[in-house]
Amino acid sequence: MGNKLIVGNWKMNGSLADNATLLAGVLNGLPAAGAARVAVCVPAVYLHQMQSLLKDTPVAWGAQDVSAHERGAFTGEVSATMLRDLACRYVIVGHSERRQYHGESDELVATKAQRALACGVTPIVCVGETLAQREAGDTEMVVKRQLASVIHTVGHCTSELVVAYEPVWAIGTGKTATPEMAQAVHAVLRAQIAAATPNASRVAILYGGSMNAGNAAELLAQPDIDGGLIGGASLKAPDFLSIVDAAGVAH
Ligand code: PGA
Repeated sequence: MGNKLIVGNWKMNGSLADNATLLAGVLNGLPAAGAARVAVCVPAVYLHQMQSLLKDTPVAWGAQDVSAHERGAFTGEVSATMLRDLACRYVIVGHSERRQYHGESDELVATKAQRALACGVTPIVCVGETLAQREAGDTEMVVKRQLASVIHTVGHCTSELVVAYEPVWAIGTGKTATPEMAQAVHAVLRAQIAAATPNASRVAILYGGSMNAGNAAELLAQPDIDGGLIGGASLKAPDFLSIVDAAGVAH
């Protein structure tokens, strides 16, 4: 895996004014020779703003969800073609908040990933276990099942995915998986990807869940952690930049 990939997930936060301030802070503070790749995934209504503020900068942008359908009578949905139209590089699919609050199944997540790939937008496929599943010893089984569904659907395009391991109990809670815990799951995912494609080394596996300025360096130092998906800490330029810095020095 080459450079680390650091992706901000703004979730349902922001305003035109706040976004402009945040991005100015991030762009001003980016290290000159970017050792890490950087992107932000923003609410769909702000993608157009990203296109105008981030075009020709080192920061890529993406959405947080995409419709499983191509076009037509799906009120409220945003298609992968539309994301492509706004020059999105990435789209998050299967975030645990969507699985939990919007009832998204493994099959739906897989179809969304497939739609994104068909339009040239890289899906960031989120997998992760709940606390109850971890305590029951089911972590491996759960994340493998979630990823297997996507691999089964996208087939030879598996090498075009980004995968994010986000233990549900670590999201927004301040509880982070220890580097060893995260690495163990990442190694499982890496092996699963390697069994599915000869180009497994192209797939970045990100860790997400309360990654912050204080813990990023040791997480990113793990051999199978290729970057981070950052929620809360992506909303403050200095915090986000510290993680980008940590990614630049980790190897
Ligand atoms: P967090 O969120 O960094 O606020 O825990 C990560 C995510 O949900 O992508």
